[in-house]
Amino acid sequence: MKQIQMNENSSFSLISTKKIIQLNDVSTSYDSKSFALKGINMSIERGTNYAVVGQSGSGKSTLLKLMNGMMIPSNGTVKIDYVTPKMNDKKFKKMLHTIGYIPQSLGLVKNITVLENILIGALPRIGKIQSLLKKFPKDELDEARKILKLVGLGNKEYRKAYMLSGGEKRRVAIARALMQKPTILLADEIVSELDHVTAREIMNLISDAQKTMNLTAIMVHHDMQLALEYADRVAVIKEGEKILEIGVEGNKIVDFQTGDLNTEEIMEMYADDSKK
Ligand SMILES: Nc1ncnc2c1ncn2[C@@H]1O[C@H](COP(=O)(O)OP(=O)(O)OP(=O)(O)O)[C@@H](O)[C@H]1O
Ligand SMILES: [Mg+2]
Repeated sequence: MKQIQMNENSSFSLISTKKIIQLNDVSTSYDSKSFALKGINMSIERGTNYAVVGQSGSGKSTLLKLMNGMMIPSNGTVKIDYVTPKMNDKKFKKMLHTIGYIPQSLGLVKNITVLENILIGALPRIGKIQSLLKKFPKDELDEARKILKLVGLGNKEYRKAYMLSGGEKRRVAIARALMQKPTILLADEIVSELDHVTAREIMNLISDAQKTMNLTAIMVHHDMQLALEYADRVAVIKEGEKILEIGVEGNKIVDFQTGDLNTEEIMEMYADDSKK
């Protein structure tokens, strides 16, 4: 048996877990009348691509907000790498810098350039005064330009964000998140409303970034087919409850949380509306 001595010089100072996100019996509400999420249990492994699928109003965005501290649960516990998300907690605030969150509305600043939008991701490293003066360190500018190329917008550096197409805006939002050097990427319907080809280009981009950066991606989708194509696990949310957790193994859809729906029913319910 291995003897591990713990002292101040020990290299075993941190416990690492394969599970980067853990939700235990989580419920949350916006008002006293109803729950937006009820009794959610979720365990997400580090480095994986996890998708959340469900109909409009089922609670998908609320779920992502629980993972970045924008909402706190009314019941149950949320842990992000052992830390409870709380905006006024110093430890979590530091961690928040490494959580790339792309809201459903993308959250771009319309009247500034693509490059400046991307540099917002580096703000925690740059500091407020320097950024207000738009004095960005050369290494951060180089990094921003490298990421710009990576997302295929190398030639749009100085374009104002409001002049971009829907797909380009999404690329900027991804680039801003990558600029944070994130360990977790939370993306809320980043490819909804895009054509089939652009949606897959963007998903491939995230997939590639994920492999090179050892990123854990949690992505909300409307299209079950697309979710199954890219995600290791897909959680299905219905009326605030997680009714199913599935994934593809070989050519089979595997059910990790026994539900009472069959595969055809799920695919039919959650197929992209535009393709019905
Ligand atoms: N700020 C809010 N105040 C009150 N209720 C809210 C608020 N935001 C969301 N809700 C309610 O909580 C429930 C879940 O909303 P949520 O935005 O998480 O759904 P969603 O699955 O992301 O939907 P969509 O696919 O339309 O984006 C809905 O019933 C919604 O009306
Ligand atoms: Mg939503």
